[in-house]
Amino acid sequence: MELRLDGKVALVTGGGKGLGRACALAFARAGADVAICDVDETAAAAVKAEIEAANQRCFTGSCNVSSAAEVKEFFHGAVEALGSLDITLNNAGVSAPIVPLAETEEADFDRLMSVNLKGVWLCLREALRIMEPQGQGNIINMDSALGRRTFPGVGLYVSSKFAVAGLTRNTAIEYAEKGIRINAMCPGNVATPLLVSSTTEEMQGILADQHPMKRLGTEEEIANLALFLASDASSFMTGELVAADGGWTAL
Ligand SMILES: NC(=O)c1ccc[n+]([C@@H]2O[C@H](COP(=O)([O-])OP(=O)(O)OC[C@H]3O[C@@H](n4cnc5c(N)ncnc54)[C@H](O)[C@@H]3O)[C@@H](O)[C@H]2O)c1
Repeated sequence: MELRLDGKVALVTGGGKGLGRACALAFARAGADVAICDVDETAAAAVKAEIEAANQRCFTGSCNVSSAAEVKEFFHGAVEALGSLDITLNNAGVSAPIVPLAETEEADFDRLMSVNLKGVWLCLREALRIMEPQGQGNIINMDSALGRRTFPGVGLYVSSKFAVAGLTRNTAIEYAEKGIRINAMCPGNVATPLLVSSTTEEMQGILADQHPMKRLGTEEEIANLALFLASDASSFMTGELVAADGGWTAL
């Protein structure tokens, strides 16, 4: 079955790089117009050019997902520019240094929770406020394999992602009768700018070894899952935490 999003409008947070960029491009190639925000305006502008080269419309904004005011302005700007909001991928996220919990810093806790949890909550809330009156919508939260399993040294990141899992499932139940589906994606490790900047090559080898398939995932493999969840092919799915992790959570 070919997965198409013709006539749909999709919004992707953190769409300038890594998994967000790959998902935004997959949505555009499937026929969607796409809104992307990023704190990195140069990266967002480059992705906008790629989306327009695929003959789809693109709206960009510099929005920090931790700011309620910026989230509201960006979401409403997207609807005004592109006409509606059918799909939202709450993807923007950050990592923290790999250390035992006794060595974690308050600043890292605040930054992680403010982007990975508060940012997802703010974007989820804004999407619901737009989608509920429309009577339809599809929301995907970017979680992680580490929203379903543990890994020593990343307790703060794991906590933020377990929280996203809870938020996803609880909200999905609240909105299941209102035509709005909400699922989470749980990727294993992928060599995106986030992973490469926060780990050594040796660590990336160790991470690859953790996955039963003995390799890291690719951005395209995660974008394929996003496209499936964004499309009507997944129309009976809501409240799911869907893994694409080379078997990591099956261990
Ligand atoms: N890379 C992996 O192995 C992996 C695995 C599982 C889950 N994830 C999750 O996928 C998401 C994307 O990760 P990635 O690896 O592509 O990261 P990345 O750093 O490569 O890309 C993230 C993008 O989000 C933007 N961003 C960061 N903070 C932002 C904010 N406050 N507001 C708006 N934009 C912001 C960045 O500028 C960047 O362009 C994150 O939620 C991450 O936790 C990544």
